[in-house]
Amino acid sequence: MEQPAVALVGAGQMGGALVRGWLAAIRRGGGLTLTVIEPHFDPALERELAAAGAVLNPPDGGAADVVVVAVKPQVFAETVARARTFIGPRTLVLSVMAGVTIAALCRAFETERVIRAMPNTPGQIGQGVTAYVAAGACGDEDRRLAEQLLEPLGPVEHIPNERLMDVVTAVSGSGPAYVFLLAEVLAAAAEAEGLDREIAGRLARQTVAGAGALMLESGETPAALRKQVTSPGGTTQAALDVLQAGDGLGPVMRRAVAAATQRSRELGRAVDTP
Ligand SMILES: NC(=O)c1ccc[n+]([C@@H]2O[C@H](COP(=O)([O-])OP(=O)(O)OC[C@H]3O[C@@H](n4cnc5c(N)ncnc54)[C@H](OP(=O)(O)O)[C@@H]3O)[C@@H](O)[C@H]2O)c1
Repeated sequence: MEQPAVALVGAGQMGGALVRGWLAAIRRGGGLTLTVIEPHFDPALERELAAAGAVLNPPDGGAADVVVVAVKPQVFAETVARARTFIGPRTLVLSVMAGVTIAALCRAFETERVIRAMPNTPGQIGQGVTAYVAAGACGDEDRRLAEQLLEPLGPVEHIPNERLMDVVTAVSGSGPAYVFLLAEVLAAAAEAEGLDREIAGRLARQTVAGAGALMLESGETPAALRKQVTSPGGTTQAALDVLQAGDGLGPVMRRAVAAATQRSRELGRAVDTP
């Protein structure tokens, strides 16, 4: 679709990141008609969109090609009536709300054409990853449109079964927190071994960020990169002997992801219960 008509509900961290990505796409030669339903839409972003040639908040509104829902789940119910004014028979609903199921979205918007996506926080700088699941009534064109709109946040993965969105939530949705914790505990260990706290923090942060960047840029698997820095009998091997022991990082991460998956299931049930 060359100039999709999008109605965006909520333009905070995630909705704002999407709009900035769409703005970049317009500048590369695309088009966009955008209605923003948001109490505090960034006026600078609004000016940039207008200057790039986007059609903003057209007065005759009407049905949009896609309604993107990016409010917090707690305020979702209060936005439904307004959002529904943009829904016609051909409108796709694309939600990035955590935990709100396809069934709940179909009920709220009285449509079958719903896509539920789970982005993550690095999406705010275009370095995230988003997984999505589409309702059975969605066609290839709906999926393509959703992927095109989500790509500004980073790569997009299609998930075939909504049940697996709880696992996605536990891995990539919550995952950035596990990596931040790794930087925290690495810094704490460095301090315990005698390094100054500030220096320990800087070394740990840059090590985590740099290793992530190297993994992306090199295209090598994490295991291959790990082996490259591990000489037999060396210092890295001494640490990995601890981290890969029977009670090491593997089983801890397995339990952590299982706990997050379980919690996501419970929260999903709570949201779905009237
Ligand atoms: N941030 C992430 O990395 C991330 C990751 C995965 C999923 N998500 C999902 O993305 C959604 C948005 O999260 P976020 O972090 O972007 O939250 P956020 O920064 O709080 O953005 C939500 C926006 O919605 C606006 N809003 C509140 N009430 C509204 C209403 N009645 N009508 C229209 N807009 C309204 C808020 O405005 P005010 O601030 O003025 O109230 C705010 O700008 C959530 O459902 C979350 O589960 C976010």
